[in-house]
Amino acid sequence: MVPQLLKHVLLALAVSRAYADLTTGVPDSAPAGYEEWTSPIVVPAPDVKGSADWAPFVARARKFTAQLTIEEKVNVTTGVDVNGRCVGNTGTLPRFKWAGLCLEDSPLGVRFADFASAFPASINAAATWDVDLIKARGVAMAQEHRGKGVNVALGPMTNLGRQAAAGRQWEGFGSDPFLAGVATAVTIEGMQSVGVIATVKHFIANEQEHFRGGSESFPIASSNLDDKTMHEVYLWPFAEAVKVGVGSVMCSYNLVNQTQACQNSKLINGILKEELGFQGFIMSDWAAMINGVQPALAGLDMNMPGFVGYGIGDQNQPDPSKATNSWWGVELINMIRNGSVPESRIDDMVTRIFATWYKLGQDRGYPEVSFSQLTQDTYLNGELVNKHINVQADHYKLIRQIGAASTVLLKNTKNALPLSVRKLKRVGIFGSDAAPHPAGPNACSDGQNDKGCNEGTLAMGWGSGTANFPYLVDPFAAISAHIRSINPTVVVEGVLSDYAYNAMAPVARNSDACLVFVNADSGEGYINVGGNQGDRNNITLWHGGEALIANVAGQCANTIVVQHAVGAVTVEDWIDHPNVTAVLQAGLPGQESGNAIVDVLFSDSPQATNPSAKLVYTIAKKREDYAAEVLYTNNVPNNGNPQLTYDEGVNIDYRWFDVKGIKPRFEFGFGLSYTTFGYSGLRVSGHKRRAEAVSRPSSSSAPVISSKPSASPVSSAPAVSSRPANASSIAVSVSASASASSSVRPSSTASAPSAGSSPVGDIGGPAALYAPFGSVSFTLKNTGRVAGAEVAQLYLTFPAAYNEPPRLLRGFSRVFLGAGQSKGVSIPLRVKDLSVWDVVAQKWVLVKGEVGVAVGASSRDIRLTGKMQL
Ligand SMILES: *[C@@H]1O[C@H](CO)[C@@H](O)[C@H](O)[C@H]1NC(C)=O
Ligand SMILES: *[C@@H]1O[C@H](CO)[C@@H](O)[C@H](O)[C@H]1NC(C)=O
Ligand SMILES: *[C@@H]1O[C@H](CO)[C@@H](O)[C@H](O)[C@H]1NC(C)=O
Ligand SMILES: *[C@@H]1O[C@H](CO)[C@@H](O)[C@H](O)[C@H]1NC(C)=O
Ligand SMILES: *[C@@H]1O[C@H](CO)[C@@H](O)[C@H](O)[C@H]1NC(C)=O
Ligand SMILES: *[C@@H]1O[C@H](CO)[C@@H](O)[C@H](O)[C@H]1NC(C)=O
Repeated sequence: MVPQLLKHVLLALAVSRAYADLTTGVPDSAPAGYEEWTSPIVVPAPDVKGSADWAPFVARARKFTAQLTIEEKVNVTTGVDVNGRCVGNTGTLPRFKWAGLCLEDSPLGVRFADFASAFPASINAAATWDVDLIKARGVAMAQEHRGKGVNVALGPMTNLGRQAAAGRQWEGFGSDPFLAGVATAVTIEGMQSVGVIATVKHFIANEQEHFRGGSESFPIASSNLDDKTMHEVYLWPFAEAVKVGVGSVMCSYNLVNQTQACQNSKLINGILKEELGFQGFIMSDWAAMINGVQPALAGLDMNMPGFVGYGIGDQNQPDPSKATNSWWGVELINMIRNGSVPESRIDDMVTRIFATWYKLGQDRGYPEVSFSQLTQDTYLNGELVNKHINVQADHYKLIRQIGAASTVLLKNTKNALPLSVRKLKRVGIFGSDAAPHPAGPNACSDGQNDKGCNEGTLAMGWGSGTANFPYLVDPFAAISAHIRSINPTVVVEGVLSDYAYNAMAPVARNSDACLVFVNADSGEGYINVGGNQGDRNNITLWHGGEALIANVAGQCANTIVVQHAVGAVTVEDWIDHPNVTAVLQAGLPGQESGNAIVDVLFSDSPQATNPSAKLVYTIAKKREDYAAEVLYTNNVPNNGNPQLTYDEGVNIDYRWFDVKGIKPRFEFGFGLSYTTFGYSGLRVSGHKRRAEAVSRPSSSSAPVISSKPSASPVSSAPAVSSRPANASSIAVSVSASASASSSVRPSSTASAPSAGSSPVGDIGGPAALYAPFGSVSFTLKNTGRVAGAEVAQLYLTFPAAYNEPPRLLRGFSRVFLGAGQSKGVSIPLRVKDLSVWDVVAQKWVLVKGEVGVAVGASSRDIRLTGKMQL
C-alpha cells in the first residue's frame, strides 16, 4: 500500500511540475515592447463532458478506450507517416480490426484523388450568399471524400482575410465573421450529414503565410490580438462550427500571444474546450508541433502527420506506438510514465476521437480507403493502392451553378451585358487566363506541384487547399462552343498570349465585344510562385493584366473584363475607362470555370444566370486603405519571433473603411444584377427586452423567429418557421457559464479532473446566446425586366458606448424574384447577434440602448433604416 501511495504522490508532484513548466516561459517570452501580449495558462485540460447529443457516443467511446493498452492509445493519437495512403493516417488497432483514420485535404475537394471533382473555392461559395448552395457544396464534397474512404476531411477553412494579400484567403469564406460563421456552419452540416468528420481550421489567427511557422520554419510570427477581437471576430466562425457539432478542429502553425497555437492552453483548454464546450478532437496542423509535453497539457488530441518535422529524421514510421521521431509516439508513453502528462489526458484524447467517430456513424460500414495520395497509378511498389473509384456523380452541375452564382458583376454600362449571340458578328477573346494550361490543368511547366504556378486560366489557388482537376473547362473553349452552338458564322478569335499586342490590334479594333481575361493568384507559403511566398506581393494583376486591358480598351469600345482573382485587386488604372463597359470578378470557380462564365455572360446560354453574387471583401482604391498589411520582413531584432499585432481590433475590412470614412472602390457586399430591386416596409420585431419583445402581437405578415443561424435558411423564399416566440426561451441575461480562468487552477492530484470539475460550457457557448431574439422584415421587389436574385443584407449599429464599428453584418437573405414580383423577407436575429463580448465579465452581454437597423444591397447601399430600443 505504502509504495503505491508514494508512487501516486510522486506522480502528482511530477504532473504539477509539468504544469509549472507550462506556466513559465513556454516557449518564448515576449520581445521588448510586446510584454502585454502573452497567454495565460489554463490547465488542466477539461475532459470531454458528453454534452447534449454527444452523450451516448462519449459513453461508448469511454467504454472502448478503457479496453486499450497504452500502445494502442498512442496509435489513435499519433499519425503514421507521410508515405501513407492519405495525407494523415493514424495507427491501427489490429486487436479490434480498427483500420485507423484517413485524414485528407482539402476545403475544395479530395486532394490528390482521381475521378473526383474540383469544386469552386470557399471564397466563391461565400460570394453566393446562398446557404442552400453552400450547404449542397459541403454535401457533395463530403460524398466524394466518403466515396474514397476519407474519414476526416480537412475543411472548412475559416480564416478571415485580415490582409487583402493574405495567401490563403481564398480557402476561407471572406472577411466578415458573421458571413463566415454561417458559411462555415452550413458547410459542416452538409459535410457531416453524409458521415464525414469535418475539420474547421486553422485555429486561430493564422492570417498570413510569411513566418507562418511549423516545426521546420523559424522564426514563427506571433499573432497578438485582444480578447474582444478574438471573440467578436476570429473566434466567431469557430464558435458557430462547434455549435453545429463539428467533429474536429485543426490548430494552426502560428503563435498567438507568443505561444504556439497547438500548445496554447488558453486557446485550447480555455476557449475551445471550456468556453465553447467543444466535444470533438483537436489535431495539429501538419508538423505544427514544436514540443511534446506542452501540447498534451494544453489540450491537443492528435499529432499530425506524426513525425517531428518535414525533412527531420525518419519520415516513415509505420507504427506510431514505436515511433521515435515524433513529439508523441513512444514519447507520449514516456511522458505518461515519467509523470509529465497524466494518463487521463491520453484517455481523453482517445475518447474524443472515438466519440466523434461513433457520432458520425463511421463504425457502421464506412468505405475503406481506395486511393493513394502518392500516385494515380493502380499499383505502388506492387501493392494495389488505387481502385479509381469514380465519386464525381453529377456534381459538375452544382459546380457550374456555384461558379455562375459566385461571379460578381462589378460594372455594367451601355447594356454591355448580358451578351446575346444573335447580336454578335465578331468576338475577340484576350489573355492567357482565357486559355488552357500549357502543362495541363494539374501541372506546372517548371515541374512545381500543388498548382504552384499561374499558367492558363486560374480556377484555384496553390498549396494544400487544392484538388486535381478531372478536367478544366477554359473560358475560350466554352465561349467558342456556346457561340458556335447558336451561330457558327460568328467570328471568335482568341489572342491568348498576354503580350501579343500586334496580334491583338486588328481583333480588338474589329470586334463587337472584346472579352479580356486577367487574374491574380496566391497560395500557401511552402511554395514561392514568381517571388510570391504564399502571400501576394501586390494586389494588382499578374501577367501584365493592366497593360492588356489598356491595350484592348484603347481600341475596342466594348471591352468586357473578367477577373479570376483570389481576392481583391485594385482596379483604379482602368475601371473608369469609358471603353471598359463591364467587369466581372469570377474568383476561383473550379473545374466548370468556362461554362460558368458563359452562363453569366450570355442571356442565350441554356443555363443563363443573372448575376447575384456580392463581394465578401472590400476592393479598396489603394492598398494602403486597408486596415492591416502582411508583414513581409521581420520586425523583431536578432531573428526573434515577428510580431503581428492586430491594432485594428475588430475593425477589419469594411468596418475599417466605415470607421475611417474611407471610400472604397467596391464595398463589402457589393454586386450588380441585370435587374433592379426595390426595398420597402421595414419592420423590426422583438426589439424590446425579453417579455416586452414577445408580448407584442405578431402581425399578419408574421415575423419569423428561427433558431437557425441568422441567414435565411432558404434562398428561393423568405425564411419561414413555425416556431412560436417563447418568452422564457429568450434569455436576456446572457451569461457565459464558462469563463476561462486566467491562472492555473489548483490541481491537487494527478488524477483526471472529473468532468464535473471542469467549467465546460454549453456546446458553442451558452445556449441562451443562440436563442431567437426577433427579426427584421421588409418587402423586396424586382423592379426590372428580368428575373434575378437579390442578396439583402442586414447591418446593425450598436450604441456608441460599445465602441463597435458603424455597421456590423448580422443577417442576410438571398431571394429569387421574377420580373415585377415582390416578396416579404424576414431575417431572424439571435441574442448573440445583438451581443458584445465583455472582457471584464468574460461573457457575452446583450447591448443596451438604441440599435440602428439598416437593410440594403451592400454595406454602403442602405435602402431601409430603423431602430430597436434594447
Ligand atoms: C492575448 O493578450 C491580450 C492582451 O493582453 C489579451 O487581451 C488576450 O486575451 C490574450 N489572448 C490569448 C489567447 O492569450
Ligand atoms: C499500431 O498501428 C500500427 C500501424 O497500423 C500497427 O502495425 C500496430 O500493430 C499497432 N499497434 C498496436 C499496439 O495495436
Ligand atoms: C518525460 O518524458 C518526456 C518524453 O520523453 C520528456 O520530454 C520529458 O523531459 C520527461 N520529463 C521528465 C521530468 O523526465
Ligand atoms: C504584382 O505581382 C505580379 C505577380 O508576381 C507581377 O506579375 C506584377 O508585375 C506585379 N505588379 C507590379 C505593379 O509590380
Ligand atoms: C475607345 O475605343 C475606340 C474604338 O472603338 C477608340 O477610338 C477610342 O480611342 C477608345 N477610347 C479610349 C479612351 O481609349
Ligand atoms: C418555452 O420554454 C420553456 C423553457 O425553456 C419550455 O419548457 C417550453 O416547452 C417552451 N415552450 C414552447 C412552446 O416552446
